[in-house]
Amino acid sequence: MNQQREKFSSRLGFILISAGCAIGLGNVWKFPYVTGKYGGAAFVLIYILFLVLLGIPILVTELSVGRASQRSVAMSMDVLEQKGTKWHYFKYFAMAGNYLLMMFYTTVAGWMLYYFIQMASGGFGGLDQDGVANIFGSMLENPALMAGFMIEVVLIGFGICSRGLQKGVEKITKVMMVLLLLLMVVLAVRSAVLEGGEEGLRFYLTPDFSALKENGILEVLFAALGQAFFTLSIGMGAIAIFGSYIDRSRSLTGEAVFITLLDTSVALMSGLIIFPACFAYGINPGAGPSLIFITLPNVFNAMPGGRLWGSLFFLFMCFAALSTVIAVFQNIISFGTDLTNASRKKVVFINLVAIILLSLPCVLGFNLLSGIQPLGAGSTVLDFEDFIVSNNILPLGSVVYVLFCSMKMGWGWDNFMAEANSGKGLRFPKSIRFYIQWILPLVVLFVFVMGYKSLFFS
Ligand code: PHE
Repeated sequence: MNQQREKFSSRLGFILISAGCAIGLGNVWKFPYVTGKYGGAAFVLIYILFLVLLGIPILVTELSVGRASQRSVAMSMDVLEQKGTKWHYFKYFAMAGNYLLMMFYTTVAGWMLYYFIQMASGGFGGLDQDGVANIFGSMLENPALMAGFMIEVVLIGFGICSRGLQKGVEKITKVMMVLLLLLMVVLAVRSAVLEGGEEGLRFYLTPDFSALKENGILEVLFAALGQAFFTLSIGMGAIAIFGSYIDRSRSLTGEAVFITLLDTSVALMSGLIIFPACFAYGINPGAGPSLIFITLPNVFNAMPGGRLWGSLFFLFMCFAALSTVIAVFQNIISFGTDLTNASRKKVVFINLVAIILLSLPCVLGFNLLSGIQPLGAGSTVLDFEDFIVSNNILPLGSVVYVLFCSMKMGWGWDNFMAEANSGKGLRFPKSIRFYIQWILPLVVLFVFVMGYKSLFFS
């Protein structure tokens, strides 16, 4: 069956590409601003708890489904489900999620690209804080500029994917990830010793649980759940696809733990870079999606050699974003090739056009369509698309994966365990079946329902 399916060239390739899919704007852009909004260290604790208790097991289920089926989410459940069951309808939900994610992700990746070019060409030179904020503001007002960078991102992403799994995706992402990991360490150290930044470190590292009450604990839990699932890329088959490109030499729990560790360390380091800077420059950490764009250029302006460091930083942010874009594009391309007989070239072309068009509402939501405020005053199309993916598709999709793997009428626990545990490495504990089948889904559903209630009905 499906003998010519491509494979990664090495385990390192698999780990770095999966980490590349996980590490992205979620870590360097969203994590800081969501943490800022929800009160700092106490939020971070809940987020980490969710990663360990919910994220890692879900990651294992997804990778197992991918590896056992050797398919993308577009066909994986068709291959594994019991005859006569309807799990495979999940594909529509999951595929929609991948497209929706790219509908706003490409825009923010475009911001990173724009900032890299501004930094490198000295565009922030000599600007004060208002000047820096103005650059962000005028970018948002300019639909042609934003669309241009968004299109650039889409072209680069599909350009790399069209060269194939090993020669395109694996080769490029590997290099980008190694560089990114190195630079993050250097900058975190640099920012953590910033003068006036101690307050920021305190905000970020010393939990203040009264901050949770301010936003309402249920809303905070809901946000932490969304962020934990978003950052690990779980719930819609974005990670499962990479399970389909590996063999059975390693067990999957160990790989999941490894991916989570890499992902979490990048998120935590982003916080170390950003919060001291916020407090050193008097910027409100609750500023929302603009946070890193109005904070960090100030840091680089005040730093010797700042233009070089700043350019490197935004270049590597582009890498983080691009590695995720490439991963999700690879998944999207495999939907096309798993479901139809169309050639890879044709699938790439159709999706390239489709994703550019689908990304326009997000771009225009900041200017021509700014009257559309789907989540209340001041919200944007981006906030809405992000909410649908992070707070709906990912948690609900994760529940589907978990139930599929643990229920008899799904793929079944024994099949799942055999797949997760084949190969060398950490075993998935047998004893937690009850937790996986009952407690985990109920916790996710509880946080989901209560989160909705507190957001919209209180
Ligand atoms: N994990 C990615 C990030 O942090 C986002 C993502 C979510 C990717 C869901 C795929 C699926 O940027």
